Amino acid sequence: MREEIQNIRNEALAQLIEAKTADEVERLRIIYLGRNGKVNKLTKKLKSLKTQEKKEVGSLLNDTKDTLIFQIGKRKNQLKYGVRQWFDPTIPGKKPVIGHLHLITQAIEEISSIFEKIGFTRVRYPEVEWDYYAFESLNMPKDHPARDVWETFFVDSKKDKKYGQMVLTPHTSSGQIREMERIKNPPIRMINIAKCFRRELDASHTPMFHQFEGLVIDKDISIAHLKGTLDYFAKNYFGPERKTRLRPFHFQFTEPSFEVDISCGICKAKGCKVCKEGWLELGGAGMVYPSVLKNGGIDPQKYTGFAFGWGVERVVMMKPGLNIPDLRLLYSSDLRFLRQF
Ligand code: PHE
Repeated sequence: MREEIQNIRNEALAQLIEAKTADEVERLRIIYLGRNGKVNKLTKKLKSLKTQEKKEVGSLLNDTKDTLIFQIGKRKNQLKYGVRQWFDPTIPGKKPVIGHLHLITQAIEEISSIFEKIGFTRVRYPEVEWDYYAFESLNMPKDHPARDVWETFFVDSKKDKKYGQMVLTPHTSSGQIREMERIKNPPIRMINIAKCFRRELDASHTPMFHQFEGLVIDKDISIAHLKGTLDYFAKNYFGPERKTRLRPFHFQFTEPSFEVDISCGICKAKGCKVCKEGWLELGGAGMVYPSVLKNGGIDPQKYTGFAFGWGVERVVMMKPGLNIPDLRLLYSSDLRFLRQF
Protein backbone atom coordinates (compact mmCIF):
# COMPACT_ATOMS: atom_id res chain seq x y z
CA MET A 1 0.00 0.00 0.00
CA ARG A 2 2.89 2.30 0.67
CA GLU A 3 3.93 2.03 -2.91
CA GLU A 4 0.44 2.82 -4.06
CA ILE A 5 0.44 6.00 -1.95
CA GLN A 6 3.80 7.09 -3.35
CA ASN A 7 2.63 6.45 -6.88
CA ILE A 8 -0.51 8.49 -6.42
CA ARG A 9 1.47 11.32 -4.94
CA ASN A 10 4.01 11.41 -7.76
CA GLU A 11 1.36 11.05 -10.40
CA ALA A 12 -0.63 13.94 -8.92
CA LEU A 13 2.39 16.25 -8.65
CA ALA A 14 3.42 15.48 -12.25
CA GLN A 15 -0.05 16.23 -13.53
CA LEU A 16 -0.20 19.44 -11.53
CA ILE A 17 2.91 20.73 -13.29
CA GLU A 18 1.35 19.87 -16.63
CA ALA A 19 -1.94 21.61 -15.79
CA LYS A 20 -2.40 24.75 -17.85
CA THR A 21 -5.51 26.33 -16.31
CA ALA A 22 -7.08 26.70 -12.87
CA ASP A 23 -10.00 24.60 -14.10
CA GLU A 24 -7.66 21.77 -14.96
CA VAL A 25 -6.25 21.96 -11.45
CA GLU A 26 -9.74 21.86 -9.98
CA ARG A 27 -10.43 18.68 -12.00
CA LEU A 28 -7.27 17.15 -10.57
CA ARG A 29 -8.37 18.12 -7.07
CA ILE A 30 -11.60 16.19 -7.51
CA ILE A 31 -9.75 13.18 -8.93
CA TYR A 32 -7.32 13.02 -6.00
CA LEU A 33 -8.97 14.71 -3.05
CA GLY A 34 -12.69 14.54 -3.89
CA ARG A 35 -15.09 12.47 -1.83
CA ASN A 36 -14.61 9.53 -4.17
CA GLY A 37 -11.07 10.54 -5.02
CA LYS A 38 -8.00 8.37 -5.00
CA VAL A 39 -6.84 9.45 -1.56
CA ASN A 40 -10.14 8.72 0.08
CA LYS A 41 -10.27 5.31 -1.58
CA LEU A 42 -6.98 4.46 0.03
CA THR A 43 -8.17 5.79 3.39
CA LYS A 44 -11.00 3.32 3.27
CA LYS A 45 -8.53 0.51 2.61
CA LEU A 46 -6.67 1.37 5.84
CA LYS A 47 -9.30 -0.43 7.90
CA SER A 48 -8.07 -3.81 6.75
CA LEU A 49 -4.53 -3.22 8.08
CA LYS A 50 -3.11 -4.37 11.41
CA THR A 51 -2.79 -1.72 14.16
CA GLN A 52 0.92 -0.95 13.80
CA GLU A 53 0.80 -0.90 10.01
CA LYS A 54 -2.35 1.17 10.08
CA LYS A 55 -0.54 3.81 12.10
CA GLU A 56 2.44 4.05 9.77
CA VAL A 57 0.59 3.92 6.49
CA GLY A 58 -2.05 6.27 7.85
CA SER A 59 0.54 8.85 8.67
CA LEU A 60 2.12 8.55 5.22
CA LEU A 61 -1.27 8.98 3.66
CA ASN A 62 -1.95 12.08 5.77
CA ASP A 63 1.34 13.61 4.70
CA THR A 64 0.52 12.92 1.10
CA LYS A 65 -2.88 14.51 1.52
CA ASP A 66 -1.36 17.65 3.11
CA THR A 67 1.21 17.92 0.33
CA LEU A 68 -1.44 17.64 -2.33
CA ILE A 69 -3.71 20.21 -0.68
CA PHE A 70 -0.82 22.66 -0.45
CA GLN A 71 0.52 22.06 -3.97
CA ILE A 72 -2.92 22.19 -5.57
CA GLY A 73 -3.65 25.51 -3.84
CA LYS A 74 -0.29 26.88 -4.88
CA ARG A 75 -0.64 25.81 -8.52
CA LYS A 76 -4.14 27.28 -8.69
CA ASN A 77 -2.88 30.61 -7.44
CA GLN A 78 0.05 30.55 -9.84
CA LEU A 79 -2.25 29.99 -12.78
CA LYS A 80 -4.78 32.55 -11.59
CA TYR A 81 -2.47 35.38 -10.53
CA GLY A 82 0.89 34.58 -12.11
CA VAL A 83 3.92 33.22 -10.30
CA ARG A 84 5.11 36.53 -8.90
CA GLN A 85 1.90 37.45 -7.20
CA TRP A 86 1.81 34.30 -5.16
CA PHE A 87 2.16 35.65 -1.69
CA ASP A 88 2.00 33.75 1.53
CA PRO A 89 1.43 36.23 4.37
CA THR A 90 2.25 33.61 6.97
CA ILE A 91 5.92 33.31 5.97
CA PRO A 92 8.11 35.34 8.37
CA GLY A 93 9.60 38.44 6.73
CA LYS A 94 13.28 38.90 6.03
CA LYS A 95 14.83 41.36 8.46
CA PRO A 96 16.85 44.05 6.72
CA VAL A 97 20.50 44.02 7.75
CA ILE A 98 21.18 47.00 9.98
CA GLY A 99 24.79 48.18 9.94
CA HIS A 100 26.53 50.67 12.20
CA LEU A 101 29.23 53.29 11.96
CA HIS A 102 32.84 52.14 11.73
CA LEU A 103 34.73 52.18 15.01
CA ILE A 104 36.92 55.06 13.80
CA THR A 105 33.91 57.11 12.66
CA GLN A 106 32.38 56.60 16.10
CA ALA A 107 35.62 57.79 17.71
CA ILE A 108 35.80 60.87 15.44
CA GLU A 109 32.27 61.81 16.49
CA GLU A 110 33.09 61.29 20.15
CA ILE A 111 36.31 63.33 19.96
CA SER A 112 34.54 66.15 18.09
CA SER A 113 31.77 66.34 20.64
CA ILE A 114 34.20 66.40 23.60
CA PHE A 115 36.03 69.41 22.11
CA GLU A 116 32.88 71.12 20.85
CA LYS A 117 31.63 71.25 24.45
CA ILE A 118 34.50 73.61 25.32
CA GLY A 119 34.09 75.85 22.31
CA PHE A 120 36.22 74.19 19.62
CA THR A 121 34.95 74.19 16.03
CA ARG A 122 35.35 71.00 14.01
CA VAL A 123 36.92 71.60 10.61
CA ARG A 124 38.40 69.48 7.84
CA TYR A 125 41.16 70.55 5.54
CA PRO A 126 42.37 69.02 2.26
CA GLU A 127 43.87 65.55 2.44
CA VAL A 128 45.71 66.18 -0.82
CA GLU A 129 47.62 69.27 0.19
CA TRP A 130 50.33 71.69 -0.89
CA ASP A 131 53.84 71.18 0.42
CA TYR A 132 53.56 74.76 1.71
CA TYR A 133 50.82 73.93 4.27
CA ALA A 134 52.21 70.51 5.20
CA PHE A 135 55.85 71.60 5.68
CA GLU A 136 57.14 74.93 4.43
CA SER A 137 54.87 77.22 6.49
CA LEU A 138 55.59 75.05 9.56
CA ASN A 139 59.30 75.87 9.55
CA MET A 140 60.32 72.93 7.41
CA PRO A 141 61.77 74.33 4.21
CA LYS A 142 62.57 72.06 1.29
CA ASP A 143 65.24 69.45 2.06
CA HIS A 144 65.03 70.09 5.81
CA PRO A 145 65.90 66.84 7.61
CA ALA A 146 62.98 67.20 10.04
CA ARG A 147 60.70 66.25 7.15
CA ASP A 148 62.05 62.72 7.23
CA VAL A 149 59.87 61.87 10.25
CA TRP A 150 56.78 62.22 8.04
CA GLU A 151 57.26 59.45 5.49
CA THR A 152 55.43 61.41 2.83
CA PHE A 153 53.62 60.34 -0.34
CA PHE A 154 54.19 62.86 -3.12
CA VAL A 155 51.61 63.55 -5.80
CA ASP A 156 52.74 63.73 -9.40
CA SER A 157 51.48 67.28 -9.87
CA LYS A 158 52.72 70.49 -11.40
CA LYS A 159 54.73 72.53 -8.93
CA ASP A 160 53.38 75.88 -7.80
CA LYS A 161 55.83 78.74 -7.33
CA LYS A 162 54.66 79.57 -3.82
CA TYR A 163 53.00 76.33 -2.68
CA GLY A 164 55.40 73.79 -4.16
CA GLN A 165 54.45 70.21 -4.93
CA MET A 166 51.31 68.38 -3.79
CA VAL A 167 51.47 65.68 -1.12
CA LEU A 168 49.05 63.44 0.70
CA THR A 169 48.83 65.19 4.09
CA PRO A 170 51.16 63.35 6.45
CA HIS A 171 49.65 65.16 9.48
CA THR A 172 46.74 67.42 10.39
CA SER A 173 49.12 70.25 11.32
CA SER A 174 48.70 71.32 7.69
CA GLY A 175 45.34 72.71 8.86
CA GLN A 176 46.98 75.20 11.25
CA ILE A 177 47.90 77.85 8.68
CA ARG A 178 44.68 77.23 6.74
CA GLU A 179 42.64 77.91 9.88
CA MET A 180 44.60 81.10 10.65
CA GLU A 181 43.96 82.26 7.08
CA ARG A 182 40.26 81.48 7.41
CA ILE A 183 39.63 83.12 10.82
CA LYS A 184 42.16 86.00 10.44
CA ASN A 185 41.31 87.58 13.82
CA PRO A 186 41.72 85.33 16.90
CA PRO A 187 40.31 83.77 19.02
CA ILE A 188 40.81 80.52 17.17
CA ARG A 189 39.66 77.22 18.64
CA MET A 190 40.01 74.56 15.98
CA ILE A 191 39.67 70.80 16.03
CA ASN A 192 40.76 69.46 12.64
CA ILE A 193 40.16 65.75 12.09
CA ALA A 194 41.26 64.24 8.81
CA LYS A 195 42.90 61.35 7.05
CA CYS A 196 46.70 61.33 7.03
CA PHE A 197 49.06 59.27 4.92
CA ARG A 198 52.55 57.94 5.53
CA ARG A 199 54.68 55.21 4.01
CA GLU A 200 54.39 52.85 6.97
CA LEU A 201 52.77 49.47 7.48
CA ASP A 202 52.97 47.18 10.51
CA ALA A 203 50.83 46.10 13.46
CA SER A 204 50.64 49.65 14.81
CA HIS A 205 50.83 51.67 11.55
CA THR A 206 48.66 51.80 8.43
CA PRO A 207 49.50 53.97 5.38
CA MET A 208 46.18 55.76 5.89
CA PHE A 209 45.16 56.81 9.38
CA HIS A 210 43.45 59.72 11.12
CA GLN A 211 44.69 62.52 13.29
CA PHE A 212 42.92 65.14 15.36
CA GLU A 213 44.61 68.47 15.65
CA GLY A 214 43.76 71.11 18.19
CA LEU A 215 44.77 74.72 17.69
CA VAL A 216 44.00 77.55 20.10
CA ILE A 217 45.18 81.11 19.47
CA ASP A 218 44.23 84.10 21.59
CA LYS A 219 45.73 86.72 23.87
CA ASP A 220 47.79 85.29 26.77
CA ILE A 221 47.41 81.62 25.90
CA SER A 222 49.92 79.63 27.96
CA ILE A 223 51.10 76.09 28.61
CA ALA A 224 48.62 75.97 31.50
CA HIS A 225 45.76 76.23 28.98
CA LEU A 226 47.31 73.43 26.95
CA LYS A 227 47.69 71.21 30.01
CA GLY A 228 44.13 71.95 31.18
CA THR A 229 42.72 71.12 27.73
CA LEU A 230 44.66 67.85 27.53
CA ASP A 231 43.55 66.80 31.02
CA TYR A 232 39.96 67.65 30.13
CA PHE A 233 40.19 65.44 27.04
CA ALA A 234 41.90 62.57 28.86
CA LYS A 235 39.24 62.48 31.59
CA ASN A 236 36.32 62.70 29.17
CA TYR A 237 37.62 60.20 26.66
CA PHE A 238 39.49 57.68 28.79
CA GLY A 239 37.94 58.06 32.25
CA PRO A 240 37.80 60.51 35.20
CA GLU A 241 40.84 59.11 37.02
CA ARG A 242 43.25 59.63 34.08
CA LYS A 243 45.89 62.40 33.99
CA THR A 244 48.31 63.71 31.36
CA ARG A 245 51.99 64.48 31.58
CA LEU A 246 54.11 66.69 29.31
CA ARG A 247 57.60 65.56 28.33
CA PRO A 248 60.07 67.85 26.53
CA PHE A 249 60.36 67.08 22.82
CA HIS A 250 61.09 68.77 19.53
CA PHE A 251 58.87 69.87 16.67
CA GLN A 252 59.82 72.49 14.11
CA PHE A 253 56.51 74.34 14.46
CA THR A 254 56.15 74.53 18.25
CA GLU A 255 58.37 75.92 20.98
CA PRO A 256 58.48 74.57 23.60
CA SER A 257 57.37 71.18 22.25
CA PHE A 258 56.09 68.19 24.17
CA GLU A 259 55.21 64.56 23.95
CA VAL A 260 52.01 64.00 25.87
CA ASP A 261 51.64 60.89 28.03
CA ILE A 262 48.55 59.61 29.79
CA SER A 263 48.56 57.83 33.13
CA CYS A 264 48.01 54.08 32.81
CA GLY A 265 44.42 53.12 33.60
CA ILE A 266 45.43 49.81 35.12
CA CYS A 267 48.12 50.78 37.65
CA LYS A 268 47.22 54.49 38.00
CA ALA A 269 50.74 55.61 37.01
CA LYS A 270 52.52 53.32 39.48
CA GLY A 271 53.99 51.06 36.79
CA CYS A 272 52.74 47.65 35.67
CA LYS A 273 53.23 44.95 33.01
CA VAL A 274 51.18 46.79 30.39
CA CYS A 275 52.67 50.29 30.66
CA LYS A 276 56.01 49.47 32.32
CA GLU A 277 56.59 52.96 33.77
CA GLY A 278 53.06 54.07 34.58
CA TRP A 279 52.57 56.28 31.52
CA LEU A 280 51.50 55.68 27.91
CA GLU A 281 52.50 57.90 25.01
CA LEU A 282 49.63 59.78 23.33
CA GLY A 283 51.14 62.22 20.81
CA GLY A 284 52.72 65.62 20.18
CA ALA A 285 51.89 69.12 21.35
CA GLY A 286 53.45 72.52 21.95
CA MET A 287 53.18 76.31 21.86
CA VAL A 288 52.80 77.61 18.31
CA TYR A 289 56.11 78.95 17.00
CA PRO A 290 55.99 82.76 16.46
CA SER A 291 57.07 82.46 12.83
CA VAL A 292 54.21 80.00 12.19
CA LEU A 293 51.76 82.59 13.55
CA LYS A 294 53.35 85.13 11.24
CA ASN A 295 53.00 82.77 8.26
CA GLY A 296 49.30 82.53 9.11
CA GLY A 297 48.98 86.33 9.15
CA ILE A 298 48.74 86.63 12.94
CA ASP A 299 50.82 89.04 14.99
CA PRO A 300 52.99 87.03 17.44
CA GLN A 301 53.49 90.16 19.57
CA LYS A 302 49.78 90.22 20.29
CA TYR A 303 48.82 86.58 20.28
CA THR A 304 50.10 83.22 21.47
CA GLY A 305 48.72 79.75 20.95
CA PHE A 306 49.04 76.04 21.53
CA ALA A 307 48.58 73.05 19.25
CA PHE A 308 48.43 69.30 19.62
CA GLY A 309 48.07 66.48 17.10
CA TRP A 310 47.26 62.90 17.95
CA GLY A 311 46.28 59.73 16.12
CA VAL A 312 42.60 58.76 16.27
CA GLU A 313 43.48 55.07 15.86
CA ARG A 314 46.00 55.38 18.64
CA VAL A 315 43.54 56.75 21.20
CA VAL A 316 40.96 54.15 20.12
CA MET A 317 43.48 51.34 20.70
CA MET A 318 44.23 52.77 24.13
CA LYS A 319 40.61 53.01 25.20
CA PRO A 320 39.97 50.82 28.25
CA GLY A 321 38.24 47.53 27.41
CA LEU A 322 39.23 47.53 23.74
CA ASN A 323 42.02 45.10 23.21
CA ILE A 324 42.89 45.43 19.52
CA PRO A 325 46.12 43.59 18.77
CA ASP A 326 46.66 44.84 15.21
CA LEU A 327 45.70 48.20 13.71
CA ARG A 328 45.39 46.67 10.25
CA LEU A 329 42.23 44.84 11.38
CA LEU A 330 40.41 48.18 11.41
CA TYR A 331 40.75 48.53 7.65
CA SER A 332 40.50 44.87 6.67
CA SER A 333 36.73 45.03 5.93
CA ASP A 334 36.34 41.79 7.87
CA LEU A 335 32.76 42.08 9.11
CA ARG A 336 33.29 39.47 11.84
CA PHE A 337 35.76 41.93 13.39
CA LEU A 338 33.87 45.16 12.65
CA ARG A 339 30.46 43.97 13.90
CA GLN A 340 31.83 43.74 17.44
CA PHE A 341 31.84 47.49 17.95
N1 PHE B 1 51.98 67.01 13.65
C1 PHE B 1 52.70 66.32 14.67
C2 PHE B 1 52.85 64.84 14.27
O1 PHE B 1 52.22 64.43 13.33
C3 PHE B 1 52.04 66.39 16.01
C4 PHE B 1 51.96 67.79 16.56
C5 PHE B 1 50.85 68.59 16.32
C6 PHE B 1 52.99 68.30 17.32
C7 PHE B 1 50.77 69.85 16.84
C8 PHE B 1 52.91 69.57 17.87
C9 PHE B 1 51.82 70.32 17.62
O2 PHE B 1 53.57 64.10 14.85
